[in-house]
Amino acid sequence: MSDPRGGTAARSGPAGGGAAPGAAPDRTPTPSPAPVRAGGVAGSLEVVVAVAPHYTVSVGPDLLTSLLPARVGERRVALVTDARVAAHHARRVSTALAAAGKDVLELVVPAGEASKSLGEYARLLGELASVAFPRDGAVVALGGGVVGDLGGFVAASYMRGVAFYQAPTSLLAMVDASVGGKTGIDLPQGKNLVGAFWQPRTVIADVGTLATLPEREFRQGTVEAFKHALLAAPDLLPALTAGWGTDAATSVLTEVVARNVAVKAAVVAADEREQGVRAHLNLGHTLAHALEAASGHTFQHGDAVAYGLVFAALVARARGFADVLRPTLDLLGWVAPAPLPNRAFGEVRPFMARDKKVVDGRLRMVLLEEVGRAVVVADLREGELAAAWNELLEVTA
Ligand code: GLY
Repeated sequence: MSDPRGGTAARSGPAGGGAAPGAAPDRTPTPSPAPVRAGGVAGSLEVVVAVAPHYTVSVGPDLLTSLLPARVGERRVALVTDARVAAHHARRVSTALAAAGKDVLELVVPAGEASKSLGEYARLLGELASVAFPRDGAVVALGGGVVGDLGGFVAASYMRGVAFYQAPTSLLAMVDASVGGKTGIDLPQGKNLVGAFWQPRTVIADVGTLATLPEREFRQGTVEAFKHALLAAPDLLPALTAGWGTDAATSVLTEVVARNVAVKAAVVAADEREQGVRAHLNLGHTLAHALEAASGHTFQHGDAVAYGLVFAALVARARGFADVLRPTLDLLGWVAPAPLPNRAFGEVRPFMARDKKVVDGRLRMVLLEEVGRAVVVADLREGELAAAWNELLEVTA
């Protein structure tokens, strides 16, 4: 990668004249992170997600066996997991739940995004129905984002909704996907096209599971953690680089995950259904979603968001906003993503038009005016987007 300070991304005013009418930026501040407090289990931390009803995210070592069984109030439990996670964790979690008097049905799906399908969704519902799984049972999702989204949607819809618990085992799921109640599956026509908001009753993030996470997946999750830090916890940024990895000290993993959850918890509490400030969580996602869609979803989400954060940094810097090019490029280098497709901006731009932040045909983008101060802008010009894309190609060449 070339050094961006070598002048490839000089500051300049927005290209293409004045702001489009009716396109005032939304400067609603990102809420301050929710409080992080000591948890009931030694070495654990807790964050409350203040929706109605509120729920707790517990973060710490060994919580799958020490805390999860006590937190699940229902007797009948459907443990949804994937084959990879099952090999590491399902036996001991099932055993701990059974020891607490639960009747456990294990539902294992193949590992990978392909399981967020109508086929797997229908199969799981069928398995529940065929054992007459009761309305007062609970679904526990043990795994990463795919398992949480799929298991959550099963919980949201089986018998019009049963109790749901999240037990995330990937960094991405701990800091992002397990918190906030988004559940769903993909259709052949696109990702997450069917789903529901269905908040969990509790989230148990056992950081011990990160030790068995492939390093590459850990890095993918770090990208969303980095995004949270840029939005509302800048003092976390150093902890996400030096000494950060699957082998980081348990106390470090616990604190960094909990403080990241605290960022997301506050945003979700302020805007549970994504009518406003929850859009801030889409920092870096305008380009990311376009890259994913343009690649037919072969691009990894973390890779795409890492490029997206650099792209957003370039657009922001050119406007005279925050200059976070260096740290986002450092993150990108550490994530070691798949190469960016060397395409003309005109080939990528149509995929941005499908972004969910498009309102009345107008693309909106989350930018950092300052680190810790996001703004949603709607006066984007084609020239500035194309310039940022071309700079991105240059600085990542
Ligand atoms: N991952 C973004 C959100 O939950 O809103």
